[in-house]
Amino acid sequence: MDTLRIALLGAGTVGSGFVKLLGEQRDRFRALGLEPALTGILVRDPSKKRPSWIPRGLLSDDVGRMLAEADVVVELMGGTKTAKRLTLAALGEGLPVISANKALLAEHWSELKPYVLEGLLYYEASVMAGTPVIEPLSGALRGNNALEIHGILNGSTNYIIGRMEEGLDFSQALAEAQAKGFVEEDPFLDIGGVDAAHKLAILARLTVDPDYPWRDVRENTRGIQELARDHIYAAESEGKKIRLVASLFPQGGSWKTAVRPVMLPASHPLAGAALSHNALLYRGDAVGDVLISGGGAGSTVTASAVIGDLLRMLEGYPGHPPLPAAIPAPSYQTEVFEEI
Ligand SMILES: NC(=O)c1ccc[n+]([C@@H]2O[C@H](COP(=O)([O-])OP(=O)(O)OC[C@H]3O[C@@H](n4cnc5c(N)ncnc54)[C@H](OP(=O)(O)O)[C@@H]3O)[C@@H](O)[C@H]2O)c1
Repeated sequence: MDTLRIALLGAGTVGSGFVKLLGEQRDRFRALGLEPALTGILVRDPSKKRPSWIPRGLLSDDVGRMLAEADVVVELMGGTKTAKRLTLAALGEGLPVISANKALLAEHWSELKPYVLEGLLYYEASVMAGTPVIEPLSGALRGNNALEIHGILNGSTNYIIGRMEEGLDFSQALAEAQAKGFVEEDPFLDIGGVDAAHKLAILARLTVDPDYPWRDVRENTRGIQELARDHIYAAESEGKKIRLVASLFPQGGSWKTAVRPVMLPASHPLAGAALSHNALLYRGDAVGDVLISGGGAGSTVTASAVIGDLLRMLEGYPGHPPLPAAIPAPSYQTEVFEEI
């Protein structure tokens, strides 16, 4: 049996889930004639307390050696500085990279894109964690022209709004979400809508324009910081629910994006996404409406998509391709949401 040598960058929430699942799913790799082995695990602080299944002897800051010995790199460290440098270094050496890093993909797409086109970058976990959207949007749904997409792409804000519906005020709900580990180290990334915007930029490049600019998505992003219980009560009195919705839609002959809190009828498919769950409503010209929903964050929920990407890579599938060329924005009446 050959060895599959994996350099793991990061052993936090997702990285530790990855190590756990790699052990549990070992037989899937053996069925392909491969024994997975880590060449090392890059962390910031090796002395930090970690789950029992993390092999402490593999924690290392010798990332040069880890990459040199690897067949594949799994990037679960996050951020756009060191992660960018290491991802580009690995890709430049021809190593495939599996990444959950939506910030890096959204903000540094032009540098990554040549490698994406070579099929070296796999990123299913970057949007909606283990709930598959990247694969359907880069595969089966390509038989359509997308008309519009709308998503609940950030589980933390959905959780906060859900708890406000149950009577907490914004700061109590945020504190609870932070205590449960649902919120990024910098909470603005979640409550300011930036995380949802990162994911929307990735989806736009898969569905309508391979070069959809991050700047345009960022400029049309508003979070839930101003949300008060009064907004929730007012929506409820009209049979509606407030959700942070990320949308991509045609307007005036071009594609537009928006991330903002809106009021949805309680019966709307996106209103049903429970607490930390995510949901994506894809509207295609041939298929009609497709709703994909499920867990959008968490340790093994996210790591399962990383393992899935690794197995797809071993079966010979390339990383997820963006749309080959932009499709024109149709003239079409999009769903209109009432903004808060
Ligand atoms: N958490 C989720 O539910 C989720 C869902 C989907 C996608 N993602 C994405 O997955 C990635 C990882 O997220 P996470 O929640 O697992 O993050 P996390 O818990 O903060 O873990 C990050 C890991 O990377 C290490 N690290 C960070 N910067 C480093 C540096 N400069 N040098 C060396 N090591 C460094 C940290 O080391 P220490 O342990 O020593 O601090 C830690 O082990 C991010 O891109 C995130 O956006 C996360």
